[in-house]
Amino acid sequence: MPTIVCVAGARPNYMKIKPVLDALEARGARTALVHTGQHYDESMNEVFFRDLGLRPPDHHLGTGSGTHAEQTARVMTAFEPLVDTLAPDAVVVVGDVNSTLACALVAAKAGRVVAHVEAGLRSRDWSMPEEINRVVTDRVSDLLFAPSPDAVANLRAEGYRDDQIHLAGNVMIDTLYTNLDRALASDALARHGLTAGGYGLVTLHRPANVDTPEMLAALLEALGQIAAGTPLILPVHPRTATRLESAGVPAGLRLIPPAGYLDFIALQASARLVLTDSGGVQEETTALGVPCLTLRDNTERPITVDEGTNQVVGRDPARIVAAAAAVLRDPPARRRPALWDGRAGERIAEVLLGRLRTPDAPRPTDLVALLAQRGR
Ligand code: UD1
Ligand code: UDP
Repeated sequence: MPTIVCVAGARPNYMKIKPVLDALEARGARTALVHTGQHYDESMNEVFFRDLGLRPPDHHLGTGSGTHAEQTARVMTAFEPLVDTLAPDAVVVVGDVNSTLACALVAAKAGRVVAHVEAGLRSRDWSMPEEINRVVTDRVSDLLFAPSPDAVANLRAEGYRDDQIHLAGNVMIDTLYTNLDRALASDALARHGLTAGGYGLVTLHRPANVDTPEMLAALLEALGQIAAGTPLILPVHPRTATRLESAGVPAGLRLIPPAGYLDFIALQASARLVLTDSGGVQEETTALGVPCLTLRDNTERPITVDEGTNQVVGRDPARIVAAAAAVLRDPPARRRPALWDGRAGERIAEVLLGRLRTPDAPRPTDLVALLAQRGR
């Protein structure tokens, strides 16, 4: 059986890699779980291994924080010799963080089959570091596992071959369904003095929202107005923590440390409203049927708007407050997107192991030649 390296490094990676790892192992593949160390606080890291039942990493690269170049370079420098030693048949990367890009680049240059889980999402906003990571990771990947038809359409429009693109569904929703009963049994609401349906949940960590004091102040003003009618709770991401120290936090907005996975799912599931700039939270609220307002100008996850409970409301305080009032009055109906059914990890494992049994499929570097042949 093949050996497959599975990479995780930051909070949203753990819930994405777990179902893939499980499905590969259930089919007899040898796996190595590599943690890049991009996130390292107990509340951004260990708690997820415990909550998800993820085994300790087989290899830890210990790279930590830094500028984009420092962090990406440190992951690459540490991952390259490991890939040489392990000589895996394939490397699986998930999502759009710096660790994803760094490990995909190393694996592609080492001649390994690269599989990108959550391929094809596009915000078309090049000011987001994640958009650069998504586009470049897809470009060096052999197998592109898309969570939704819009992602498939993006990949087709960019010229990827049909044999590279696989509509797999959403691995983050696999993990949500696996853990939902345990999350609902948690005492997170009681611990925070909340009642189901009686509060709103907030997350904020996008650099465009929290790194500029003026933008953060505008968002806090909007949250303060909403909190005057509906109490809000905000588990604070470490990027945001230092910025909030120098900003005035309005009454009614309660700050708590980053929540563990089970607690956070419990808080989402019982919230009357979620306000967020997270990617994953837009998806989880759609699956849970909880109204979500996305505090950004765009989303790479349009299916959560077209079929789910999400609205992209921008960053203007008056617009955010009006949208919150409307959604509290009249919560949206939802439809669960196709293939967000808890089996995405299994579909990915089937395709990846099948691809490794037929290793003569064309590599992405052949793409330019193929497109030239087709006259495109
Ligand atoms: C990263 C991802 C982002 C993802 C987010 C999920 C990139 C470019 N960004 O953003 O796409 O949505 O993770 O949470 O990869 N820090 C700590 N402790 C930690 C981790 C970070 O204190 O365990 C602090 C450090 O000051 C660090 C800052 O947070 O400099 C930012 O961390 P970093 O991983 O660079 O980016 P995130 O904002 O977390
Ligand atoms: N999450 C969590 N605790 C929190 C905030 C988020 O467990 O305090 C979970 C959330 O349920 C989802 C994932 O973290 O599964 C989303 O990660 P994040 O918002 O950090 O990153 P993004 O999805 O924006 O890349």
